[in-house]
Amino acid sequence: MVTYISKSPDATAALGESWGRTAGVGLVIGLIGELGSGKTELVRGLARGLAITAPVHSPTFALVHEYEGGRLPLFHLDLFRLESQTQVIRAGLADYFTPAGVTVVEWADRWQDRPPRRYRRVLFEVLGEQERAINYEDSGA
Ligand SMILES: Nc1ncnc2c1ncn2[C@@H]1O[C@H](COP(=O)(O)OP(=O)(O)OP(=O)(O)O)[C@@H](O)[C@H]1O
Ligand SMILES: [Mg+2]
Repeated sequence: MVTYISKSPDATAALGESWGRTAGVGLVIGLIGELGSGKTELVRGLARGLAITAPVHSPTFALVHEYEGGRLPLFHLDLFRLESQTQVIRAGLADYFTPAGVTVVEWADRWQDRPPRRYRRVLFEVLGEQERAINYEDSGA
């Protein structure tokens, strides 16, 4: 587990940007943390690192936003409104966990099946108004 201490929204986005520059096809990034902990800020940077120019907004109501036009397609899921694995599957989201691009999932703890093949699990902790601990770990190939 690696811990990155972020002291600003821009620093959180910069971490996501570095991941976006190097991400390969099939990577799934699961973001876990309370409301306002910085998950969407990280996705903004991730999109930038993938050379996606479209603005990123949390897909809380749409469940998923797809961004094309970058180095790889980015699929941005937000499972906040779903309560169980069954609901995730009923919503037709299972295929996003084996992406032909990169998938990033807010509220990834709602996905309770086995982890995707290439998975980065990210835990956000709020330490202060501007301070976040971002803990992450990779599993799979
Ligand atoms: N170090 C930091 N990293 C990220 N965001 C920060 C930081 N410090 C302050 N913030 C603020 O915290 C908020 C994070 O909002 P963001 O939408 O990214 O959270 P979220 O985890 O996606 O929340 P939600 O669960 O509602 O989708 C923003 O208002 C941002 O300006
Ligand atoms: Mg969000």
